[in-house]
Amino acid sequence: MTQVVLTEIHGKVGLIRINRPEAMNALNNEVVDAIGAAVDAFEADENIGCMVITGNEKAFAAGADIGFMKDFDYMHAYKTDFITRNWERIKTTRKPVIAAVAGFALGGGCEMAMMCDMIFAADTAKFGQPEIRLGTMPGAGGTQRLPRAVGKAKAMDMCLTARMMDAAEAEKAGLVARIIPADQLLEETMKAAATIAGYSLPVIMMIKETVNRAYESSLNEGLLFERRVFHSAFALEDQKEGMAAFVEKRKPVFKNR
Ligand code: CAA
Repeated sequence: MTQVVLTEIHGKVGLIRINRPEAMNALNNEVVDAIGAAVDAFEADENIGCMVITGNEKAFAAGADIGFMKDFDYMHAYKTDFITRNWERIKTTRKPVIAAVAGFALGGGCEMAMMCDMIFAADTAKFGQPEIRLGTMPGAGGTQRLPRAVGKAKAMDMCLTARMMDAAEAEKAGLVARIIPADQLLEETMKAAATIAGYSLPVIMMIKETVNRAYESSLNEGLLFERRVFHSAFALEDQKEGMAAFVEKRKPVFKNR
């Protein structure tokens, strides 16, 4: 049987590939559970400092699997806690996750990419929230994360008209961190992930947690949180090592403590 999600470890980077090419990587329970299990395994692995999630050249993921959910009724969706039950593991991991998006990232696919800490897009990437065409609405964070990323005007435009955004527009609007030629997407994303994973793991986690705090607090509360975490970084052996290495003009050797 084909595995719908493939995982690989490259040095200190955990790679997750969504592998349902026959269905444009549509996200059903099997795929989402397997992504969750992969994140669990990489989270538990001390060696891993960063994760990358990707699809194939045609699609990151074309959304929640429409065939799988078409006959859901309200009680089923509510009782099984559809989406909340298993989709948000990417959001809760303390290690950074980069989405490497080529081709379509639509509906739940766009939403899953937005759950990641940043999106690197191939020049072929297309983002959209076309649920309205199916008589439904975004339900995995699109109405909340998209306006935070691109502003209300573009978020309303995409969710209400179902139009797609190409990579250039997505980058200009702030949805995407980098645009990379499609044939170099994975290589370049893995390089960036390796750069991150080469730093001190507790510092990586502190930075991720603190940047995310910016979306959950007022400016002054966020600044206070930053200052406290920054102060706590002076307790790290890796801070002593990093600063000593700079002064001694050598490369630091981080021990993740
Ligand atoms: N669910 C299930 N199957 C899907 C799918 C999806 N979201 N998207 C594509 N597929 C399947 C197609 O049914 C097709 O299967 P068959 O070959 O068995 O017919 C196969 O993938 C290839 O797709 P197309 O033939 O349609 O390929 P295309 O190149 O002509 O079009 C596309 C590509 C524009 C992505 C088009 O497939 C499409 O519009 N897909 C649906 C996108 C969508 O509406 N996503 C939102 C889903 S709802 C959601 O995600 C809710 C939420 O917020 C959680």
